Amino acid sequence: MKNINITRKITQGMYVLTTQNGGCIVDAVSQISAGKNPFIAVSVMKKNYTNELLRANHKFALSILGTDVNPEMIKTFGFQSARDINKFEKIETTQVEGVNVINDSLGYMVCEIVDWIDNDTHTLFIGKIVEADVFAEKEAMSYGYYQEHKDELLKVTTAKGKTAWVCSMCGYIYYGDEVPEDYKCPICGVGKEYFRKKSE
Ligand SMILES: Cc1cc2nc3c(=O)[nH]c(=O)nc-3n(C[C@H](O)[C@H](O)[C@H](O)COP(=O)(O)O)c2cc1C
Repeated sequence: MKNINITRKITQGMYVLTTQNGGCIVDAVSQISAGKNPFIAVSVMKKNYTNELLRANHKFALSILGTDVNPEMIKTFGFQSARDINKFEKIETTQVEGVNVINDSLGYMVCEIVDWIDNDTHTLFIGKIVEADVFAEKEAMSYGYYQEHKDELLKVTTAKGKTAWVCSMCGYIYYGDEVPEDYKCPICGVGKEYFRKKSE
């Protein structure tokens, strides 16, 4: 493999994937057919609690984030697990077809899961859109926009007096003199080479 980083140039959006009792931020979403009930594919890490919930619920919603979204949305759904917190406690949602959709979004698609494919780390869930609506005609947040603006969006602050390494993919902070050679980010799974030393 000459340079796998070319995959980062694939244009993707930013979504909150919700299902009963949980959900998470995803960017790995594709529309795979058109027509009255298009099929949508979404790739979810096996270690995410959302993966477990999707297998049980067979239904999900994708709410499309705008560039003006409250960054707390990304912090709540992208950096924490519904194993530990109730993600819906501080986020306003509306029930559609039995799934919570996010009010602070440009709109949503509710899908019934028709199939899934596993590899060693991820599951590709394929859903058929059964309901959809537009809330606002505003600019959607792309994954590229998120990458460019994540420092200001997430306002990463590190503890004083400690050496901090910030994951350039997701903002996770590792404290220690050096990031261990075989270290993998517990949030997004990237290796040591993605961590940047944060100067105080
Ligand atoms: C910008 C961004 C993009 C992400 N994209 C995905 C994705 O496409 N698929 C995925 O499974 N997780 C993705 N994640 C990670 C999950 O949102 C994150 O691990 C979440 O905390 C899982 O929560 P859960 O355990 O409640 O499912 C992304 C996170 C961020 C911040």
